[in-house]
Amino acid sequence: MTPLIPMADKPILTISDMSITFSSPDEADIEAVRQVDLTLTPGKTLALVGESGCGKSVTARAVLRLLDKNAEIRRGSILFEPEGEAATDIVKLKPDSLPLRAIRGNQISMIFQEPMSSLSPVHTVGDQIDEMVIIHEGLKSKQARERTVALLDQVGIPGARERADAYPFQLSGDCGSAP
Ligand SMILES: Nc1ncnc2c1ncn2[C@@H]1O[C@H](COP(=O)(O)OP(=O)(O)OP(=O)(O)O)[C@@H](O)[C@H]1O
Ligand SMILES: [Mg+2]
Repeated sequence: MTPLIPMADKPILTISDMSITFSSPDEADIEAVRQVDLTLTPGKTLALVGESGCGKSVTARAVLRLLDKNAEIRRGSILFEPEGEAATDIVKLKPDSLPLRAIRGNQISMIFQEPMSSLSPVHTVGDQIDEMVIIHEGLKSKQARERTVALLDQVGIPGARERADAYPFQLSGDCGSAP
């Protein structure tokens, strides 16, 4: 049977009518993100553009349920529908639940705005990437390191094997001249 929507155009992520409210002990609740609608299609790039504070990061964090404790998605849905899998409404998952942890860092990842504060300064970058592939791909530590090196290589990091042993501060700024 021919699908009504060609597979390539079928959204993998659909945010509908999503609103996020922040509460504080002293002030009235603030609906900081209001009625967001967007779709992401495989193979396409979507950029959220807007002035500082308009809600780009909060919207992205909502997709991984990494919002601050005083935030609540009060309306809407975030439908995640990878090809061949049933649709999941991420809003309905508990932030620390297994189904969400299986998606986070595996099927959907986030590169944070400030790597110096989002990466652990006391672990090498290799250890931090190893951890992800150990958790999500079930690899043992030696295999995980091979995978990490391949991933670093794939994104064009020169001397990937040596760089995996570096700490984040050793890679900041100009990677080309880092030790
Ligand atoms: N925990 C919180 N409590 C209250 N308000 C918050 C909280 N986190 C974010 N906000 C507010 O939500 C709004 C959207 O913030 P957000 O970080 O998404 O902006 P942004 O579009 O990513 O900005 P920038 O371009 O500066 O990164 C801002 O007004 C911000 O102050
Ligand atoms: Mg931001």
